[in-house]
Amino acid sequence: MQREGVRRDFLKGVIVAITLGSLGLRRALAAPPLGLSPEEKKQLKEELQRELERKVYSVDEELYRKINKARNPLRFEGHERSHVPKITAPTKVRSLEVFTVKIEVGVEDIHEMQPFHYIDWIALRVDDVQVSYATVTPLFNRPVITFEMTLEKSANLVAQEHCNLHGTWESDTFSIEVVKTS
Ligand SMILES: [Fe+2]
Repeated sequence: MQREGVRRDFLKGVIVAITLGSLGLRRALAAPPLGLSPEEKKQLKEELQRELERKVYSVDEELYRKINKARNPLRFEGHERSHVPKITAPTKVRSLEVFTVKIEVGVEDIHEMQPFHYIDWIALRVDDVQVSYATVTPLFNRPVITFEMTLEKSANLVAQEHCNLHGTWESDTFSIEVVKTS
């Protein structure tokens, strides 16, 4: 059922790109050059289809070359909405008490997990040290992870994630105060 949805979404993307005519493929796909054998027509169609997929789902190189953050954590824009990880956790815990940290990608919209566009890992850093890491897979996972944690002293948490097209994104710092138990 979900695969059907994925396929439908992908075809929708292809149709949009063809309709826009951005690659001029509509004519080529609809009317292949005359004189081609059925096998050559099939190969041409597959080649054009691959070209179209590359254009529709292309890596954003600028985002790929750095760790991206929200420019203004109070107002998310563009890719920030579905890529900046969101941390949910208690702001105060007891020393060595078990608590849960939930990380969602992203803050306003959950990022899609389609075969051509997906989150592949989510990580948690505590005071600049990576302490937790999880891989997620399109078709099987949502980009939402929970980690069971303990802290001995107050710490700053930062979540990171990686999108196959839009690179690495980092959350704002989430501070947790640790209260000593008597
Ligand atoms: Fe993305």
